[in-house]
Amino acid sequence: IRVAVLYGGKSGEHEVSLQSAASVIRHLDRGRFDVVPVSIDKTGLWQLNDLNTIEQTAGSALPIRRNAPEVRLAAQPDGRGALLPVDGAIPGVRDIDVFFPVMHGPLCEDGAIQGLFDLTDVAYVGSGVLASAVSMDKDVAKRLALQAGLPIAPYVTLKRRDYESDPADCIEAARAKLSLPVFVKPCNMGSSVGVHKVKSWDQLKAALDDAFRYDLKILIEQGIDAREVEVAVLEDEPLFVSVASEINPDPRHEFYSYEAKYLDKDGAAVDLPARIDDVAMARVRVLAAQAFAVLECSGLARVDFFLDRKSGEFYFNEINTLPGFTSISMYPKMMEASGVPYPELLTRLINLALD
Ligand code: DAL
Ligand code: MG
Repeated sequence: IRVAVLYGGKSGEHEVSLQSAASVIRHLDRGRFDVVPVSIDKTGLWQLNDLNTIEQTAGSALPIRRNAPEVRLAAQPDGRGALLPVDGAIPGVRDIDVFFPVMHGPLCEDGAIQGLFDLTDVAYVGSGVLASAVSMDKDVAKRLALQAGLPIAPYVTLKRRDYESDPADCIEAARAKLSLPVFVKPCNMGSSVGVHKVKSWDQLKAALDDAFRYDLKILIEQGIDAREVEVAVLEDEPLFVSVASEINPDPRHEFYSYEAKYLDKDGAAVDLPARIDDVAMARVRVLAAQAFAVLECSGLARVDFFLDRKSGEFYFNEINTLPGFTSISMYPKMMEASGVPYPELLTRLINLALD
């Protein structure tokens, strides 16, 4: 079975993808799969990379070779994919059975590339267009989850055009609904890119200005005194739901920021399984399965919750349809702790795509 692993991508999580893909390529069962690495650079250029070359130079992140041939995705009549050279210099690669987008964020995880796969009629790992799109948009995901009865912490959304026309009014409206601290987040981002914890109202404007660099819509979320609990879900009949884990960002970090996640190797401590009682564990696993179903996900997702320290209630925070696969990422770790080793996890995901 020939698997094209797509990595990089045009989003703000490009670098995270390089790490996720390095880890995925290391764990793919080579007895079963032929791996074709395809990079997408920050301008959106698709390049055919040579597996041996990139593996030789890969540390924890896959490299993108500057001189690798540019290719485009093409359909084959038999439903498989082909990567054809743009300038005709190389033969390209035909007969690709399945695409594995190991990429995160806008244009990678939000339905855009999934739509391209659908148009080309090729199989791919993970959620389809609808689930990818509604899950990427934190506001729409929360609204759908709320409508299905999942608990949500208070938040407000802000569109850039409204903010630009009257920033003071928007800030006033947020202050009327929320109390400090609040979190400002781009609506369609991951890995905490552009996220700010705001502890005094006079910091809000700078946080909004920065978050609007990444998105046309942002969320201002009520900060709650909560623990961060995550659950991994794998499509099966019934859904396979992992044990939950808890992330404890190091106190040097105000929250589980991009720095705490990827730049500081001691940025967070993990409890796997989370140290919560059996009732709470059962509850959060049910909520994770509900979120996966409500958002109509396929294949895989990691569902992130807040556990309110006071009330003991879980709040749905967000769902990630292409969660991180880096060496520190929780999705494969939670699956492993639940009895699905990393190589088997990848095999199952690819088999689901081919079903
Ligand atoms: N968005 C990052 C990759 C995650 O959810 O793990
Ligand atoms: Mg995310």
